[in-house]
Amino acid sequence: MTRQRIAAGNWKLHTTVTEGCDLTKAIVQGWQGANAKVIVGPPFTHLAEVVEICSGSSVQVAAQNCFYKNEGAYTGEVSPRILTQLGVQYVILGHSERRQYFNESNSDILQKLHAALGEGMQPILCCGEPLEIRERSTHEAHVRRQLEESVFQLPEKDFGRIVVAYEPIWAIGTGKTATPEQAQEMHAYIRNLIRQNLGEGTANDTSILYGGSVKPANAADLFAQADVDGGLIGGASLKAESFLEIANTLNSI
Ligand code: 13P
Repeated sequence: MTRQRIAAGNWKLHTTVTEGCDLTKAIVQGWQGANAKVIVGPPFTHLAEVVEICSGSSVQVAAQNCFYKNEGAYTGEVSPRILTQLGVQYVILGHSERRQYFNESNSDILQKLHAALGEGMQPILCCGEPLEIRERSTHEAHVRRQLEESVFQLPEKDFGRIVVAYEPIWAIGTGKTATPEQAQEMHAYIRNLIRQNLGEGTANDTSILYGGSVKPANAADLFAQADVDGGLIGGASLKAESFLEIANTLNSI
């Protein structure tokens, strides 16, 4: 897979099915860009209808999580097989909120990566440091460990289907965005780690998205950075207008 510009919406636990379908329809109708990929990430319950609304358009669909087994006695879980059967292509894995509230470890995330890739999905793997780590200036080591214990365990051929999202936790939902320079510094660092672990070709081909209070007002400056290939967008993806404005910014760079 070659490097792509991507605007991915992570809706988290927002919208009812009806609201989510309306939002998807507005995004599908409003999106005309050809130079960027648009992905919507609704809650599980919305996926079947959202996939249906997106079919025939270029808008793709992501789940926000999946389990690491395809079936069994695992009450409440959703498998990659269920997702692919619905037509869901992408899955967000290792989001900081899953790590924080559901105790997901790097090894859990690695198992989920294997399961999702095994069903042909494209994982969007999240990494990023909390505020106290940033204040101690150990954020590079923190992110390196997250990647070394998860995606860098994968063979090079699998990495071709991975999208990486760098999301500094102190910038998520806080209105406090990393500066374009801070984002670029970490994206270049991550791309360099990919280069060291998987070679130049994989490093150049991997899309690395920035997440953390991306808005129409700051998107252009963030996306203008050499190693920022797009955004994983929370709050601003819940309104078609702001999400499309961000996606259009990316499309026209
Ligand atoms: P916000 O855009 O609301 O800060 O959320 C970012 C995020 O966590 C996307 O996954």
